[in-house]
Amino acid sequence: MKTLAKRALIASIFLCMTSGSVAAEEEASDSLRPNYLLTASINRERQSLSGAWTYSKDLYRTGLTDIDGRPAKPRLQRYRDIDVQSIEAASGIDFLEFDMDRGPTMMVPGAWNAAVPELRYYNGLVWFQKKFTPTRTTDGRAFLEFGAVNYRAHVYLNGEEVGTHEGGFTPFVFEVTDLLREGENRLVVGVDSAHDDQTIPTPITDWDNYGGITRPVHIVYTPRTFVDDATLRLTPDGLLTGSVTLDGPEANGTGVHVAIEGLDAEADVTTGSDGQAMVSIPAPDELQRWSPDAPKLYDVRFSTVDDQLEDQIGFRNIEVSGSDILLNSKPIFLRGIALHEEEFGTNPARRITPQAARSLLGEVKNELHGNYVRLSHYPHARVMTRMADELGLLVWSEIPVYWTADWDNPEVLEKAKRMQSETYFRDRNRASVILWSIGNETPVSEDRTAFHTALAEHIKALDADRLVSAALLVEGDEKNGHPLIRINDPLVDELDVMAVNSYAGWYGSNTLDELPSIEWDVPEDKPLLFSEFGAGALAGFHDPEGKQKWSEEFQAEFYRQTLSMIEKIPNLRGMSPWILKDFRSPRREHPVFQNGWNRKGLMSETGVPKIAFGVLADYYWKKMQSEPVSIESVE
Ligand code: GCU
Repeated sequence: MKTLAKRALIASIFLCMTSGSVAAEEEASDSLRPNYLLTASINRERQSLSGAWTYSKDLYRTGLTDIDGRPAKPRLQRYRDIDVQSIEAASGIDFLEFDMDRGPTMMVPGAWNAAVPELRYYNGLVWFQKKFTPTRTTDGRAFLEFGAVNYRAHVYLNGEEVGTHEGGFTPFVFEVTDLLREGENRLVVGVDSAHDDQTIPTPITDWDNYGGITRPVHIVYTPRTFVDDATLRLTPDGLLTGSVTLDGPEANGTGVHVAIEGLDAEADVTTGSDGQAMVSIPAPDELQRWSPDAPKLYDVRFSTVDDQLEDQIGFRNIEVSGSDILLNSKPIFLRGIALHEEEFGTNPARRITPQAARSLLGEVKNELHGNYVRLSHYPHARVMTRMADELGLLVWSEIPVYWTADWDNPEVLEKAKRMQSETYFRDRNRASVILWSIGNETPVSEDRTAFHTALAEHIKALDADRLVSAALLVEGDEKNGHPLIRINDPLVDELDVMAVNSYAGWYGSNTLDELPSIEWDVPEDKPLLFSEFGAGALAGFHDPEGKQKWSEEFQAEFYRQTLSMIEKIPNLRGMSPWILKDFRSPRREHPVFQNGWNRKGLMSETGVPKIAFGVLADYYWKKMQSEPVSIESVE
């Protein structure tokens, strides 16, 4: 069944399942919608808890459970709200086998693997503590917001359990209004980096498992009734539509004013009994559509009598038409590169600050002449998609369904869907995000295809606008004595855009000079992206002949030959070669060329460009010249 027809069917099923209104789509997906979204919390009154936290290793998880699975013994419960030193000074019978106040410290956010040598390969539970005085404890409400914790988080405030979260790359929020106290508060978080066969991803990956509180932590303060969620997008038929959701005692039947700075576009709506109001405003003629050439962002303000929330939103259309990807109704070729979530440097801590994000994405935009990034293999920090909005880069967003998963386990499918929902609700106001990926290189099987089909249906029901893709494996074959590569994957029917990873010329038996003659046997009725191709090179290692693998010259020739191979594919509509910079992987331990780094980067880990960087930049520069310049004009 054609994707579009199927999508319409899915949307109608969702509408039938609920009250048959557009709002129903929101309700239908509520089972996995986070309790609180705190949309655009960066624009709210926030108290940063970044900085030095004390920590305590707990490899045997004694702080969580006792040997027989019963609750941990009190003398090991790291989260207790006690002053250990005072207890000891009293010389009573009580004693403790921890003290979060006198422990060593490390900087949060950041992965422990980069913090101290003894934790470089630690994989398990570490307890963290931050003591703080709230900047506000009078009226209103307070929320604890985590950008991400890899992989499980157990959160306690002043000795009380606040909640837990599973998933290493998505935000989560707990209300702490009634737990905060005047003066000093004690926040304790148990972070467990361990993965298993039922996690997403499993332990089998080609990247370092950075454990820790890897993204910023804030207390977010709001009025008693506040705008928890607000979204506005441009529909293909020229409407600015969305919704506003209030939370609090006055959420129902409350007026909300929606206004877009600099545009004659506003609306007054009133929330229903569910605290939600739909918004629909005709797009004014002067609306400037967002694009990589002109990444126009508007300040959109959602105001009630008690609360004002603002988000910076770009308005654009993305769709597929035959084998073309259309941005604002014009065909676009995605000139991209793939990235892992690692800052430049010799000891990355997965600490993506605005400066780190600008540095990474600036290389793509300004040096590679790119207009697109694949943020692989998991949802990256929210600062990356906001920076992509600002700089003008289109984004492939991905959940870590990678290589293997427990395909016929409903609980595992639920985890993957929850990650989709958490990512969607975080980034749905980001114009840069155009593609939702539902998997990477997962071997074809009936259970695997059913799993991915369920993910495709889930994200399509959530998001009718964006496109769905997956990085597929390919099959090698021969035809008339020539090498042939084909896509043979039933999942293609569920995708708006096909994507393949190709390593012919690096892995396998093909020589570089054979690449241009390789024939590709792919469906031609929808767009094709090369989500990966790459070869390893150690920066500074040279073989003028370009014959020796690991040399910069070989990698550069690999790019030249691969580009000439894929240029011939008629429905090629973009690429994100593997990868911008070298990245840490315990899978890569050649003592001369790797030492724990995957060397397929176009740059070294410190940002030194290799020869291949120039090959790709030159190719994209020429691609840009041949493309019709997309004049951002009013249609
Ligand atoms: C795969 C995989 C990447 C991996 C790459 C490689 O395509 O998707 O995550 O790093 O190959 O072998 O370097």
